[in-house]
Amino acid sequence: MTESDEAKKAADAKLDEALEESFPASDAPAVTPAVEIKRQEVNMPYKYQARPELRPMRLTGISEQQIAQHWTLYEGYVKNVNALNEKLAALTGKGDFGLEFAELKRRIGFEYDGMILHEHYFGMLKSGQKPLGDDAELSKLMKDSFGGYRKWREEFSAMGKMRGVGWVILYYDARTGALTNHWINLHEDGHPAGFAPIVVMDVWEHAYMVDAGVTGRPSYVEAFLENVDWPKAEKMLGDARGSKMTRELHESQSSA
Ligand SMILES: [Fe+2]
Repeated sequence: MTESDEAKKAADAKLDEALEESFPASDAPAVTPAVEIKRQEVNMPYKYQARPELRPMRLTGISEQQIAQHWTLYEGYVKNVNALNEKLAALTGKGDFGLEFAELKRRIGFEYDGMILHEHYFGMLKSGQKPLGDDAELSKLMKDSFGGYRKWREEFSAMGKMRGVGWVILYYDARTGALTNHWINLHEDGHPAGFAPIVVMDVWEHAYMVDAGVTGRPSYVEAFLENVDWPKAEKMLGDARGSKMTRELHESQSSA
């Protein structure tokens, strides 16, 4: 037997000893340790917290009262994501994958997207904004993708004024390197998988009812666009372009 064989044998013996301590033969679990570890992991879902650092203040054309009421709804999504994850972990822990599990799994996309999109939205709004400069990378890409900022804004605004509740999102597509505007029904329907959000606008009625009433969406859309934090949008574009997925896509396309 070589030295390395002996070392391996000693390591195996140590592992057997540790497993015996964790799972004594008298009450050994019906599952293997590997499965047990996975179950422990899913029984400890991550707890999300609302992110106060994203809450905007002193916006132009969107009041503090409007933001305060909207923020309360966002906190509700955070709470519901945590509650759903806990319920699902309990069901998974019991191995109960019946109707309740299925319905909660269907529901969770609504709550998760409700939480995440509101974080993008609030984090996108900042007081004292200047227009997007012509030399910004985002501005150059808008020119390639839409014919310029004005043309992009025309389409984005028109989509924001469409009937129905949901979101309008400017997305970056790593495959083509282009930007496209998308309509999202509710919170979860219509996202192009793998695209990166750059500008995220909420057009549910609760986003403008306090300030402008049921017919106030057109003025709200214009107010939103006046408060977009363009340096942040520019950074999000830079992050998306530099992401691992984008780099790998471009490498595979150039080597094809
Ligand atoms: Fe909202």
